[in-house]
Amino acid sequence: MFYFGVDYYPENWPEERWPEDARLMAEAGCNVVRLAEFAWAKLEPQEGHYDFAWLDRAIAILAAQGIRVVLGTPTASPPPWLMARHPDLFRVREDGRPVTFGNRREYCPNNPLYHDYTRRIVTQMAGHYAHHPAVIGWQIDNEFGDRCYCPVCAAAFHDWLRQRYASLDDLNRRWGTIFWSHVYSDWSEIPLPLTTGGSPNPGLALDFYRFASDSYVAYQQMQIDILRRQCPRHFVTHNLMGFKYDRLNYFDLARPLDFVSWDNYPRTQWSMQAKVDPSQAALAADTMRGLKPCPDKGRGQNFWVLEQQAGPGGWEVVSVAPRPGELRLWAYQAIAHGAEAILFFRWRTARFGTEQYWHGLLDYDACPGRRYAEIKRLGAEIKKAGAQISGSLVRPCVAMLLSYDSRFALQIQANNPQFSYPDHFHQLYRALYHRHVLIDVVDPHADLSPYRLVVAPALHLVSGSVAANLQRFVAAGGVLVLTLRAGVKDESNAVVNQRLPGLLSDLCGVEVEEYDSLPPGVQNGLEFVLPELTTAHPPAASVWCDVLKLNGATVVARYTQDYYAGKPAITLHQFGQGRVVYVGTVGDTLLYETLAGWLLGLAGVRRLLAAPEGVEVAERWQGERRLLFVLNHTEREQEVTLDCCYTDLLDGSAVRKGTIPIAPRDVLVLQENER
Ligand code: GLA
Ligand code: GLA
Repeated sequence: MFYFGVDYYPENWPEERWPEDARLMAEAGCNVVRLAEFAWAKLEPQEGHYDFAWLDRAIAILAAQGIRVVLGTPTASPPPWLMARHPDLFRVREDGRPVTFGNRREYCPNNPLYHDYTRRIVTQMAGHYAHHPAVIGWQIDNEFGDRCYCPVCAAAFHDWLRQRYASLDDLNRRWGTIFWSHVYSDWSEIPLPLTTGGSPNPGLALDFYRFASDSYVAYQQMQIDILRRQCPRHFVTHNLMGFKYDRLNYFDLARPLDFVSWDNYPRTQWSMQAKVDPSQAALAADTMRGLKPCPDKGRGQNFWVLEQQAGPGGWEVVSVAPRPGELRLWAYQAIAHGAEAILFFRWRTARFGTEQYWHGLLDYDACPGRRYAEIKRLGAEIKKAGAQISGSLVRPCVAMLLSYDSRFALQIQANNPQFSYPDHFHQLYRALYHRHVLIDVVDPHADLSPYRLVVAPALHLVSGSVAANLQRFVAAGGVLVLTLRAGVKDESNAVVNQRLPGLLSDLCGVEVEEYDSLPPGVQNGLEFVLPELTTAHPPAASVWCDVLKLNGATVVARYTQDYYAGKPAITLHQFGQGRVVYVGTVGDTLLYETLAGWLLGLAGVRRLLAAPEGVEVAERWQGERRLLFVLNHTEREQEVTLDCCYTDLLDGSAVRKGTIPIAPRDVLVLQENER
């Protein structure tokens, strides 16, 4: 069954309104709602006094319309009585100051007292709803994140370090604490990397980031254990935040969940762009799908979207309004990339609170308008096509490696003020996405055998096991792409004791002879040497230039300026049955768009379909039956040319081979006819 619904806050509205809300939801095709993830103060109005009666009534009204319920554990918004009584529960920021009450997620994830209160509310809720026929699963907390620097975390960090290192001597050696006389003689002397301490030891800082991530993973696990024990029939998930959020290791957070869920907001007030770049949400979705391997299938597991944009976003300011058709289009984009459920955030716009301007499907007055009508149309389509889509899999031949160790290390030391790991990653992703191929975003330890092309942007920190994984992949015939700053660090965030790219040198067949970190506005030029790579004008290199020395590799492109003019910038190396491309600089769009076509050719990966710019093509497989999604992200009618005959799942019509039009912001969901 394909789940379709909304995030609903009945506690925000008078009870008399609930039946009408439920009726309108059912009319729009909703079969699921998420409830209660911010309702702790109403579920436990005083310490130890629980009130589920109101929630029971809300669920009964929804269930009467055939709507199922996902419950949120309410721990992301602790009630004022709790935080006022125990001020030491407040999370401490990296500047050493505690957060104060007034937003949400104010708590320290390691505080044992917060754990006690969490255990109690979750146990009560789970006990109350374990056998409720309308409840199908749980979302734990809400969008885990942040790092806490409180004294409880300091002590927990010391315990974490004791587990990780054989001895304090071992830690001192790996972090290099001899530098500036930081040699620790007792675990308790080890500080947290507070901003008041200035630039920290990189080894300490990275371990603290890992520890902070593990803290939320452990806090989540505590809740999972309660739910698994009490509600064995229910699924357990969490709503993650796509690709951009970078303070938790999402692979670790995803592992114990039944499936990943995430929150998809293509237009927020934080990025007021006139045009949405659809590759952003595509990357987010591919990242979320790659967090958990699909049992037996070797590829990423499908996900739920627990919050899909329903209207303009807004806290202090209001985002650009989603244009007509965009809400439906973005929902289909998520489905094309592996969504098994779409819930819109939120049902109705709140009249009060921080998110007073975060628009739901209904406006303040609760009268159905343009956005409701659009989602109602989508709901009817999902009713028709959902069963054919549900459970079908995305099967990419291209993978990108997301390394949280590298991402954290580059947060601590950007290397160049203009360098951003997520932006670099996205630039490479976008060039491949524009070629209409499917991409998985996976962990560097993942089984790479399903893929032909693997791109590892700025794989800064490389362990022996990751190096071995990459070697296996290339030796067996894969094409691997590595970029600047690869292999620089060991697992303790110390620089390796060998020529760069360190453990990856043999694979790449190059040495980084030296490098140049470029100031803003300064560029070098690139000249392709391979005849199959030509551009009308030379691509630009900026931010960083690795000056390469060949060690078995051949030159793909060289620099054209400065004292290293003529030296290799991009190389190609045969290793076993496969090949490795090293790109030692940050290029412009032209460079990546040019390389993408060439790399896909090298790896023998074909595009799904020829489609114009702004038209996205994706594919899911129901067994051996192919589903093709064509998404027109532009404001103009476009054309695509189909290579075989299909059935249009949204209107049931037959679609012939050949060129067909696709209306502005419209979507085609096509099922390939049996051949
Ligand atoms: C100063 C200090 C050195 C070193 C350099 C480079 O000169 O005295 O110890 O820190 O800056 O930062
Ligand atoms: C996140 C949260 C929601 C809400 C939306 C809109 O996704 O999970 O509770 O705050 O953003 O801001």
